Amino acid sequence: MAPVRPRRSDVAATPRIVTLIRQFPLSGYRRGRRLGPKISRGLHGRARMTPMDNLYLVLKTLHVVAVIAWMAGLLYLFRLFVYHGTETEPVVRTRLVEWERRLYTYIANPAMAATWLLGLGMTAVQPGLWQQPWLHAKVALVVLMTGVHHAALPLRRRLAADAAVPSDVRLRILNEVPTLLMIGIVALVILKPWAR
Ligand code: HEM
Repeated sequence: MAPVRPRRSDVAATPRIVTLIRQFPLSGYRRGRRLGPKISRGLHGRARMTPMDNLYLVLKTLHVVAVIAWMAGLLYLFRLFVYHGTETEPVVRTRLVEWERRLYTYIANPAMAATWLLGLGMTAVQPGLWQQPWLHAKVALVVLMTGVHHAALPLRRRLAADAAVPSDVRLRILNEVPTLLMIGIVALVILKPWAR
């Protein structure tokens, strides 16, 4: 008997987005119905996604969002320092002082705290991660990144007080440091070298 081909109207009636949502593998389960063997594999190859696995993925999602906010704040802040260092117009300097203060206080600082808390939160859910050399190397670079973050505060205050600051060239070199650290950190966590 020839296989039953779905009626054209049936196929057309199922918008692509609905098909995609149905296949979305977040929990490996959809209300009351288990989806295909491939998706029923949980985190780290476990037979099923446990609530802790879901928590881990939610923490990782929020972690990456916090990372993006922290990097956006820090990279823009050091760029503003470069412009501020060479700016002679008092009105523009005053505006830069306010932009730098807001960027540091309301974006970079809370995003850094959230990145740390969510990152450590994942290691609390999966304490075995602390056996991983890539995480040791990653945290070492994050500590350096946090040092650069804290070094921005006295620099911001000196610029605000029109006090002496490093030369234009030095400010431009300083501006590249968070970028290089970010590249190293992301490479370590995605490539996971020396993983055990
Ligand atoms: C001390 C602070 C941090 C800790 C403890 C930490 C820890 C972690 C852990 C445990 C993961 C999950 C790894 C996995 O399941 O594959 C992760 C993911 C990630 N982290 Fe961090 N992290 C920290 C800071 C940062 C920073 C500063 C950046 C970027 C500049 C960053 C970028 C990422 C990215 C992009 C991922 C997702 C990787 C993936 O999906 O494969 N993290 N982090």
